[in-house]
Amino acid sequence: MRDASLVGDDQMIITIDGPAGSGKSTVARKLAARLDIAYLDTGAMYRAVAHAGLQRGVDFHDNEALRQLAKSIELELDCGPVHTRVRVDGHDASEAIRTMAVSRMTPYVARHAGIRELMVKRQREIGRALGSFVSEGRDQGSVVFPGADVRIVLEASLEQRAWRRVQEMLADGEDVVIADVVDNLRARDKVDAKQWEPLLVPGGAVIIDTTDLTIVEVVDRLIEAVQAATLKKEDSG
Ligand code: DC
Repeated sequence: MRDASLVGDDQMIITIDGPAGSGKSTVARKLAARLDIAYLDTGAMYRAVAHAGLQRGVDFHDNEALRQLAKSIELELDCGPVHTRVRVDGHDASEAIRTMAVSRMTPYVARHAGIRELMVKRQREIGRALGSFVSEGRDQGSVVFPGADVRIVLEASLEQRAWRRVQEMLADGEDVVIADVVDNLRARDKVDAKQWEPLLVPGGAVIIDTTDLTIVEVVDRLIEAVQAATLKKEDSG
């Protein structure tokens, strides 16, 4: 089903933030497809820098080397509603940025203040060129697009997030121990909390606890939030 008519000619920016495993990527993509607008996957940008660092043998503990790396690579994003293609220095890295090795090194990139500054600037530039879009990450509604029309924050219990991750890993044919996944998520939450001054919830955000909701139910709630924002815009315009 398409709800493309919900987004008019004016630019509409929808941000979706939340912790690892809250279901952000899945629902952000589905929402963008339903509205027929672009999807900006900001995690892919941090992943792309980590991927380039691994390829060039950069020392991830060397802040200056990381900063130089982020400044020197050419990063291109193709933000279709259902896919994000990423090119690094002209090479397609869309699959390569999803490997475990890249996932492991990306936090070193994401906690680097200088790199965040570069990425925030780049995300705003990309946003200006996209027209209407759904942007997904950790800081989209609070830092990057604080004036967004709809700011969503997704939450879910640690157990539910771990369970979702386990199912994904099993589907990928990986061996998993649920306790390890819980420990891993807890550790990632701690790192994120340090970066994000405990989950920056933007003022006026719609907070959705997805623990007991299906993907379809979450997307329906998101559509409701977009509808409410559209009505408000029409009333004030
Ligand atoms: O959402 P993801 O798993 O693709 O994110 C990859 C990493 O990048 C993860 O460590 C969180 C971080 N990230 C971030 O710091 N800021 C964003 N806007 C998006 C992701």
